[in-house]
Amino acid sequence: MKILVATDKPFAKVAVDGIRKEVEAAGYELAVLEKYGEKAKLLEAVKDANAIIIRSDIIDAEVLDAAKDLKIVVRAGAGYDNVDLNAATAHKVCVMNTPGQNSNAVAELAFGLMVMAVRNFYNGTSGTELKGKKLGIHAYGNVGRNVARVAKGFGMEIYAYDAFCPKDVIEKDGVKALDSVEELYTTCNVVSLHIPATAETKNSINYALVGKMPKGGALVNTARKEVINEAELIKLMEERTDLKYVTDIMPVANEEFAAKFAGRYFSTPKKMGAQTAEANINAGIAAAKQIVGFFKDGCEKFRVNK
Ligand code: 3PG
Repeated sequence: MKILVATDKPFAKVAVDGIRKEVEAAGYELAVLEKYGEKAKLLEAVKDANAIIIRSDIIDAEVLDAAKDLKIVVRAGAGYDNVDLNAATAHKVCVMNTPGQNSNAVAELAFGLMVMAVRNFYNGTSGTELKGKKLGIHAYGNVGRNVARVAKGFGMEIYAYDAFCPKDVIEKDGVKALDSVEELYTTCNVVSLHIPATAETKNSINYALVGKMPKGGALVNTARKEVINEAELIKLMEERTDLKYVTDIMPVANEEFAAKFAGRYFSTPKKMGAQTAEANINAGIAAAKQIVGFFKDGCEKFRVNK
């Protein structure tokens, strides 16, 4: 049985060591393909793999066609919008994620970006504090919950909107659950995005919505670039010179954002939210364990395709 770790953005070495331990203890072989850059290298490496562990790596029909012996792909992380689920089902390949395993890391980075924004990107001028400000958590999943936990330490007033999570689940954490997404943006000084990229959410963070934020508002994105309507956010930030946008997922229009909004815009050069030793260990080892459970016991917990 051959398990391939295919990560263009590599895990910390300690996580790969942990994955190897799990895989070898099960009597399987581990192959590692890191920083592969071009797809051709991935297509070559998947040829004899029975299982693949990935991060944001793209698994499409072409990769699945090349991987003749593949039975399972585990996305070591939360979002699986990088995997063509229908193609995987058609190829009889099981797809899983590892929910919750990297969520603290992402939540901590959201605060890193938030502090940076309200302190004017450390440019020497007076900023503002997070204490007493209204934080809007847009979607209350694993990351959203961790953001709420940390926000309490900052002394923020915490609000959340989630189209699927029952209000009582949100409110038992001491977070005010709002009835509409519009209300979240109207109410909050800082909004932190934690929605997945789906057909419904793509381009949904737009002129009308962000334009509802109070003066001096900051939008924090540690979710996905696709949820932002970039052209509309640019138009809005041109008109509303008080708004700031900080993101861990570089927009397609990064150069335009950077040129037009100096002092109000920041993007990490590479998505860094889950890039900690702890998150890599948690998600990587969970992925390896899920693969072993799948082959040895037929366990399909965390399967995300049909
Ligand atoms: C996730 O969906 O788990 C995060 O976006 C992390 O992605 P990454 O593994 O590519 O850092």
